[in-house]
Amino acid sequence: MNTTAPGANAAAEALSEEAVDALARAGGPSAVHADDAAPHPHEALLSSRAANIKQSAVRDVFEISMQPGLVSLAGGNPYLQSLPLERLGTTAANIIAKHGLEALQYGGGQGTEELRTQICEVMAAEGILNADPENVVITAGSQSAQDVAAKVFCDPGDVILLEDPTYVGALNTFEAYEVDVQPVAGDERGIIPSLLRERIAALQAQGKRIKLLYTIPNFNNPSGVMLAPDRRQEIVDICREANILVLEDNPYGLLKFDGVLPEPLRAANPDDVLYLGSFSKIFAPGLRIGWALVPAHLKQRYYLASEAVTLCPPTLNQMLVSEYLSNYDWQGQIATYRALYAERCTALLGALDEFMPEGVFWTRPEGGFFVWLTLPEGIDSYPLLHEGIDAGVVFVPGAAFSAAEGPSNKLRLAFSAVPPETLREGVKRLAPVLARAIAAA
Ligand SMILES: Cc1ncc(COP(=O)(O)O)c(C=O)c1O
Repeated sequence: MNTTAPGANAAAEALSEEAVDALARAGGPSAVHADDAAPHPHEALLSSRAANIKQSAVRDVFEISMQPGLVSLAGGNPYLQSLPLERLGTTAANIIAKHGLEALQYGGGQGTEELRTQICEVMAAEGILNADPENVVITAGSQSAQDVAAKVFCDPGDVILLEDPTYVGALNTFEAYEVDVQPVAGDERGIIPSLLRERIAALQAQGKRIKLLYTIPNFNNPSGVMLAPDRRQEIVDICREANILVLEDNPYGLLKFDGVLPEPLRAANPDDVLYLGSFSKIFAPGLRIGWALVPAHLKQRYYLASEAVTLCPPTLNQMLVSEYLSNYDWQGQIATYRALYAERCTALLGALDEFMPEGVFWTRPEGGFFVWLTLPEGIDSYPLLHEGIDAGVVFVPGAAFSAAEGPSNKLRLAFSAVPPETLREGVKRLAPVLARAIAAA
C-alpha cells in the first residue's frame, strides 16, 4: 500500500537532513557545537544560565512544517484569516497618522491605562469580575510574563510545580532561571488535588523551596485537558496553605467550544493567584501583547522587573489592541473562533476515530488548539517524526513538553490552523506510521 501523499516525498527528501539536525539541536546546547573542532573562546564567557536555555523543539518543527507538500499538525497557530485584515490595516494607518507622536514614543512601563482598563473587561468575560487596572502589567505576550514571574520569585534550585505535560515555552523559561521544575500528577480532569498535596509534602521533606504552581487550567498546551471545576478551589487552597503562589496561564480560556466558560482560579482568589492572559489566541500573536494580573501586594515588584526588561510594552501595538477592543466586535470574533476551532477539532477527532490503529489513545478537548496522543508504552515518538515527514505529515513529539528526561510515547497534534479536509489527510498519512511502530514494538 502506498501511503505517501503526492508531493510528500520530494518535501521529505529535502527535509530529512534538516529534521535530523533539528532533533540534534533540540537535544540541548551541547549539541549546538557538536561539529565545531574547538569551542570559541567566548564560550568561556557564557553564564551557567545560558547553558540552560534550550532551542525549542517546537520552533524547529515549526520551521520544517512550513515546507510545501507537508500537512503540518505541529504549529499551534491561531487562524488569522478570519480577522478583518483590511479594516485593521486602515486602523493601524490612522493610529500612526493621527496619533503618531504618542504611538511611536516610549510609554509607561505598566502599559497604557486605556488598555489595562479594557483588559479588565476582557477578564470579566472570562469570569474575573474584580480586577483593578492598577494591578495589570502589560507584557510582550504571556511568554514574557512567565519570564518575569520566574525572575521575581525564583532563585536557582527553587521549585516550580507544573502539569506533565506542560507548555514547552514555560519549561524553557523556567529552566533558563535554573529552576527545579517538578511535575504534578494529573488525569483527564487535570491536576489531582490529593497527589498535589502529597507531592508538596514530599518535596518539602527533601528541603526543597517550592515557589510557584504553574498551571494551564483551560485546554492545556499540549494535552487539551481542562481542569475540572470541582478541583479548582481545592488546588488553590492547597497552595495557599503551603505558601505557594499559583501562576495561572490562561491564553485559551475564552476558546471553549461551547457551554459555560470555567471560572479561572484567579476569580475567587485575588491574593493567591498571579494570572496571565494574552491577545495571541483571541486576536493576533504578532502584536506580542499579553498581561499579568498581579496580586496587589506583589504588583510593584512584578512591575519593576517587567520594566527592567522592556522599559515599556510597544505603544503602537497597545493602541491597535485598544482600537480593536473599542471599535470592533471582538466578542463576535471570539464566537467565530470558538465555532471554527470546534469544527476543526471535531474533524481531527473524527479522522483519528477513522484511521488510528489499535493501541493509540487521545484526549477529547472541549476547547483550545490541541489533541494529545498516547502510543503504547515503550514507543518513542521522536524517531517517528522523521517517518512522519517521509509520509508527508508533521507533529510535535511529546518529549518536548515534559520536564522528565528520556523518551516519550506521546505526541501533540494541533488543529487550529488546518482546514478539516487537510486534518483528515494528515491523520490518514500519520496512521500507517504509528501502525508500523506499534507492529514493530
Ligand atoms: C499555554 C501557553 N502559554 C503562553 C503562550 C505564549 O503566548 P504569548 O504569545 O502570549 O506569549 C502559549 C503559546 O502558545 C501557550 O500555549
